[in-house]
Amino acid sequence: MPVPETIAQPRSGVETDTGPGRPQPATEVLRPHAEHAFADELAALAAADDRPRPARWRLSPWAVATYLLGGTLPDGTVITPKYVGPRRIVEVAVTTLATDRALLLLGVPGTAKTWVSEHLAAAVSGDSTLLVQGTAGTPEEAIRYGWDYARLLAHGPSRDALVPSPVMRAMAQGMTARVEELTRIPADVQDTLITILSEKTLPLPELGQEVQAVPGFNLIATANDRDRGVNELSSALRRRFNTVVLPLPATPEAEVDIVARRVEQLGRSLALPPVPDGVDEIRRVVTVFRELRDGVTTDGRTRVKSPSGTLSTAEAISVVTGGLALAAHFGDGVLRPADIAAGILGAVVRDPAADRVVWQEYLETVVRERDGWKDFYRACREVSG
Ligand SMILES: Nc1ncnc2c1ncn2[C@@H]1O[C@H](COP(=O)(O)OP(=O)(O)OP(=O)(O)O)[C@@H](O)[C@H]1O
Ligand SMILES: [Mg+2]
Repeated sequence: MPVPETIAQPRSGVETDTGPGRPQPATEVLRPHAEHAFADELAALAAADDRPRPARWRLSPWAVATYLLGGTLPDGTVITPKYVGPRRIVEVAVTTLATDRALLLLGVPGTAKTWVSEHLAAAVSGDSTLLVQGTAGTPEEAIRYGWDYARLLAHGPSRDALVPSPVMRAMAQGMTARVEELTRIPADVQDTLITILSEKTLPLPELGQEVQAVPGFNLIATANDRDRGVNELSSALRRRFNTVVLPLPATPEAEVDIVARRVEQLGRSLALPPVPDGVDEIRRVVTVFRELRDGVTTDGRTRVKSPSGTLSTAEAISVVTGGLALAAHFGDGVLRPADIAAGILGAVVRDPAADRVVWQEYLETVVRERDGWKDFYRACREVSG
């Protein structure tokens, strides 16, 4: 039986020949993978790195940590920080990948779990695309393997008819696999990972064979704190992971720094004109988010109620990027309070009834009284209606 053409044909869309040592994508893409976006930094690090590398690692653990945290190489090359946070957290995460335990990145939404996972995989294996997105509907095949049914029917079960999952490919090639939102995956499917992580093998019972992981294989999973209890990790599985908790930024300055950095990168990739002096508005967004999150004003004097949303750093980044686009397309190119007011309202008021009350109260008791916040207060009043 001939193989139907639809299966034999290459995937549609942009062919991004990913993988270690492969060229960068020729076609322009909206969001290049970390290993492409930061190919120059990774190459400079590899050239400067004379420390021992674990089997099949592209860089030494030290160089991977430098890639994430930033630094300057002896030849003057500047490595931009990807993750802003405690150095120790990154060191523990990188070291875990060089051991026989897998890495679980845990934290509230928007604490850069996915971001760190992508950059770790890019730095360690040169490929961040061996990814399984966890959902309530993730089947076992997504973690183990599936079948090309046309071949299966035509020739019976064989290695050729088998469609490997990203995890299986990572095992066979000694690479880093990623599982996003592990706790959303149903418990019985999660448990597929136990044999993989403890025995380092994936049985193929239909063929009477197995795929044994080669050195270099490891797995990074991310899970959301807020989803705890959705599909609790079994203790058997949890033991196979070293858990690293990513915290919210410790200080307002750190958070402003993160937002400014990411907004600048995003603005460039969206071809937005640079907006000068945006940092004042960024500081304002971060202040509002932190105060509502912490339930108290920065000076510690006034208690405020917290809304139902998470108001993470990631949301602050979205609000500022949205404001920037407004300023660029409909304003005079300067980021002003009116450009961020609508975004803030949208992020804070998730539950139209309860959150609106919380927001109004914050507006009247905190924003209104604050020096230099008059414009912002007026802009917020205008969008709140
Ligand atoms: N400490 C930080 N350092 C650098 N970037 C950060 C930090 N915290 C948040 N970000 C930025 O926030 C954005 C969102 O992060 P990411 O999507 O990885 O969050 P997440 O923890 O996976 O969230 P979720 O639980 O919703 O999946 C990224 O663009 C990232 O750059
Ligand atoms: Mg995520």
